[in-house]
Amino acid sequence: MSKSIDQKARWIEWMDRALQLASLAEGETSPNPLVGAIVLDKAGVLVGEGFHSGFGKAHAESQALVQAGIKARGGTLVVTLEPCCHFGKTPPCTDAVLQSGVQRVVIAIEDPDPRVSGKGISILRNAGLEVVTGVLEEQATFQNRDFIFRVKNGRPWGILKWAMSLDGRIALPNGVSQWISNTEARESVYHLRSKCDAVIIGGGTLRNDNPLLTTRGLANPEPLRVVFTQKLDLPADSQLWDTTVARTLVASGINNNKSMKRFPAGPEFVQLERSTPKNLLEVLAQKNCNRVLWECGPLLASQAIQEGCVQELLVILSPKLLGGEPARTPLAELGFTRMDEVLLAKRISFENLGDNWAIKVRIPMDK
Ligand SMILES: NC(=O)c1ccc[n+]([C@@H]2O[C@H](COP(=O)([O-])OP(=O)(O)OC[C@H]3O[C@@H](n4cnc5c(N)ncnc54)[C@H](OP(=O)(O)O)[C@@H]3O)[C@@H](O)[C@H]2O)c1
Ligand SMILES: [Zn+2]
Repeated sequence: MSKSIDQKARWIEWMDRALQLASLAEGETSPNPLVGAIVLDKAGVLVGEGFHSGFGKAHAESQALVQAGIKARGGTLVVTLEPCCHFGKTPPCTDAVLQSGVQRVVIAIEDPDPRVSGKGISILRNAGLEVVTGVLEEQATFQNRDFIFRVKNGRPWGILKWAMSLDGRIALPNGVSQWISNTEARESVYHLRSKCDAVIIGGGTLRNDNPLLTTRGLANPEPLRVVFTQKLDLPADSQLWDTTVARTLVASGINNNKSMKRFPAGPEFVQLERSTPKNLLEVLAQKNCNRVLWECGPLLASQAIQEGCVQELLVILSPKLLGGEPARTPLAELGFTRMDEVLLAKRISFENLGDNWAIKVRIPMDK
């Protein structure tokens, strides 16, 4: 084993612990990343732990270092993301690291934020600290895939979800779709929503299903509910207009439709420069979203995939048979004419939810 591999292997167990700590705040830190940290004293005994629990709250490393106090001197900080070196809502963590007296910092991945990106590591190395990088790099990259994607692409990570019958339909020919999936599957969707910053549907789903789109109390605040519409021909009495339950945003391209005036006061309205899924997500990134859940029908879902706005797919497969040739299927036109053009999803997981199946896949399209 080479010296550098050996050096990394020593820290795997502690980095795993730091990643577990980071995951405690999944869905709560946007636009910030998930970060976990632990501090070991000179003898390698755990003396401090911390994780970033929300935007504007203390950073993981500074929490763990405060907990360790003077025991950090000569010790090691293990952290899932490169410590920041700029003033944001809190002072730079590199200052706290240097003041703590640790002699070594072990890091999983560099921060992709251009204000940090390697600079934090340089500051620590230039101050004479030993810095080990790349420990459990793959796991840490996966854990922060939405943050990394948003920083690099300027729009949030997209998950598209649909519930489908065994014969591949997402609604009856008359549009009725409640419910194709079972209770366990619907509860798993509430849980998934609670890990997302926004849930998006199109006008068609609003008119057909009048959905509530909340986590049923699993997340506080509830994710932002977004309706994407061109016509603005939306019902006056939708459940989404009650914004005491959760915030709602109606997004539409620039048009002169006067029907906007009919809507109740609760929802926020945004006029997009371009009426495209990509532009919608750019606006949601500015509203601090790292991860969004598309719960729309086939028209919007296909556009979102074509524009690179979907990175993961959750398919709930139910053993029901719906039939009906005009019944909607999950996706509309994707424009392929040859089998070697089609998208090939990569399996992430496969789970039984009572008599339903939950299939999670990665869509290989990062435009
Ligand atoms: N089983 C499931 O998991 C599931 C999930 C969702 C929906 N569904 C079913 O799917 C059916 C609805 O399908 P759908 O395709 O009509 O729903 P949809 O994709 O949610 O809505 C389509 C609508 O989205 C808006 N839209 C699409 N592209 C747009 C763009 N570029 N800019 C602005 N607005 C845009 C338009 O709204 P306007 O018409 O208002 O302009 C369009 O008519 C319903 O029967 C529903 O029950 C099933
Ligand atoms: Zn920091």
